[in-house]
Order: sequence, then C-alpha cells, then structure tokens
Amino acid sequence: MEERKQILSCIQPTGNMHFGNYFGAVQNWVKLQTEYNCYYGIVDYHAMTMPYNPKKLRENVWDLIINLMAAGIRPENLFVQSLIPEHAELNWIFNCFSSHGQLTRMTQFKDKSQQSKESSDNFISTGLLTYPVLQAADILIYQADYVPVGKDQIQHLELSRNIAQRFNNQVGKEYFIMPEALLTEIPKVMSTADPTRKMSKSAGEKHYINVFAEEARIRKQVRSAVTDTGDTPEGEMSAGVHNLFSLLRACDKHEIHDSLMGEYEKGSLRYSELKDAVADALVSISTRLRENKEVLLKDKKTVKEQIKASSAEIRKRAQQTIREVKDLTGLLNVKF
Ligand code: TRP
Repeated sequence: MEERKQILSCIQPTGNMHFGNYFGAVQNWVKLQTEYNCYYGIVDYHAMTMPYNPKKLRENVWDLIINLMAAGIRPENLFVQSLIPEHAELNWIFNCFSSHGQLTRMTQFKDKSQQSKESSDNFISTGLLTYPVLQAADILIYQADYVPVGKDQIQHLELSRNIAQRFNNQVGKEYFIMPEALLTEIPKVMSTADPTRKMSKSAGEKHYINVFAEEARIRKQVRSAVTDTGDTPEGEMSAGVHNLFSLLRACDKHEIHDSLMGEYEKGSLRYSELKDAVADALVSISTRLRENKEVLLKDKKTVKEQIKASSAEIRKRAQQTIREVKDLTGLLNVKF
C-alpha cells in the first residue's frame, strides 16, 4: 500500500471561532483527516509576537482545543506547539539558515510592524520578524508534504522552502523535503455587516458570526446582513448578496442555493428568503457543534489527558528530526 502523505497546518489561539475560520480552514482540516496523516498545531509561541495577555493565552488554547474537537478534529491529530519545545530549537537553527533581508520584506511583517508602530508603546518584537522562521520549523520538523493554507500564507511557505533548500545545500544532503501548499477551493467568507471586507475578529463584533453563538444572535446577524448598497453596477450581483450565496454553498446547501439563484436570475428573489435559508444553514452547523462542545466540556479532564498524550506522541517525530539535524549540522548529539 502506498504510504499516506503528511499534512501539517497550524492555527493561532485567538479565541472565539467564527464562520470565517470554520469555512476557511477548520472544515477543510476535518475532511483531510480521511485521506492523509494529519498534524494540526495550536501555535501558542506564535501568539506571543504581538502584545498579549498570559492568562487569556492559556484560556484561548484550551478553548480552541475544545472547539476544534467539537468541529470533528481527532484529538490524536492535535498538538500544542509549546508542549513540543523542539519547534523552538529548530527555530534557532533555522534562524541561521534564513535571510534577514527576506524576513524584513515579508508582507505580514510589514503590516504588523506598522500596526505596532502606531500602537502606544511603539514596540516591534524580534519575534514578529522571525515569526515565519518558526513557521518553517513547524512544517519541516514533521517533513510535511502538504500545508493547507490560505493565499496570505504562500509567502511564508516559500520561505520554508528556501530554508529547506539552503539547509540541504549546506549539509550536502537532500534531507528536508520541499513542502507544498494545498490550495483547496475554500469559500471566502465576508463580513455580513460590510461585505467588502473579510469576516474577521479584528474589525469588531458585528463583522464576524461566532460559530457557538446563541441561535437568536446568529439569526439576527444574518437578518441584518447588508444586501444592496446602491453602488453595484447595473446587472451585477452586489457583494452582500454574493456573500450570502457563498455561505449557502459553504454549508453544502446546493439545492436551496440553486433554486434561490434561479429566483435571483428571474428577478423574483426576496432577500428575506435568502437570509432565512442562510440563517437555517448556519444554525444547523452551530447546533451540531454546540452539542459536541457540551459533551466535551462535561469531561475536560479527559480532553486534557488526550492532548497531553497526543502531543507526547507527536513530539517523538519532532525529536527524531532534531537528532538527525544535530548530526547533520555538527551539533553535539549526546544521550543523557
Ligand atoms: N502563520 C499562520 C497563520 O497566521 C499560522 C501558522 C503557524 C501556520 N505555523 C504554521 C500555518 C505552520 C501553517 C503551517 O495563519
């Protein structure tokens, strides 16, 4: 039998999972588990690159673990980055194989350092600069074949490949395999309050719909979704209506989608009908996940044990890489 390919992806513990996160990453991660060996990391080291609250960070990690499991991520595929300190060890080694100039040119670094500059204390951490090097360590430490990421991460993945290449050249061995992006067809979910911007937490409360919100809140947010703003060119679908149709597709409601699209084309679509269909579809996903979450929350101890065990198991793979990397780079490799 052909060996299953490795998938690796990671997510930052930012608290509250919204439908943008769910359709943009999590739902896809769940599906990939049937076809690939998957490693999914919660990257708490990465969450320290910008100002943060230590207590909140730890809470967010446990929250996200529960939310991901409620969505269908198998606990044996999940790990917490800081429980596998070899990520940070490989990060240092990779610092020595990455170009400083390339790091300063990263789009995300430029955006986020600008944000930091505008903040009150005007502080830009070195972690923000070397963030993508740690990301390369996350990926290469497991010799991942594919990395499911959004387009905004392509530049970081390219850096991982550059690091792998430079490392391989320097040690004279094709040791690291070149990871590839797995760009699946992922629906782009926009804010219902402003369909010209991405659904995201940073824009404020009305710009995202929490997967675990009360049914009434979800319905209210969908009901107040912006449809026509009057500036859409004649004969074109407005961004808001387009977003509502995308949400129906993301929920796999293809039959309702097609029938409402037929109405739209005939000019007889009532937006309230479209909104009701979207709200029903989101509520049905939310209800399923909330039920799962309730069960998990009843037995948090088991969840903690599962994550400890899976991180320990996944760590063995990371330790093997570190041993081999030490051999190749001339670092001492002594067993204590
Ligand atoms: N940078 C990614 C993001 O912001 C998170 C991340 C960290 C990641 N390490 C990774 C994604 C490794 C894929 C693979 O979304």
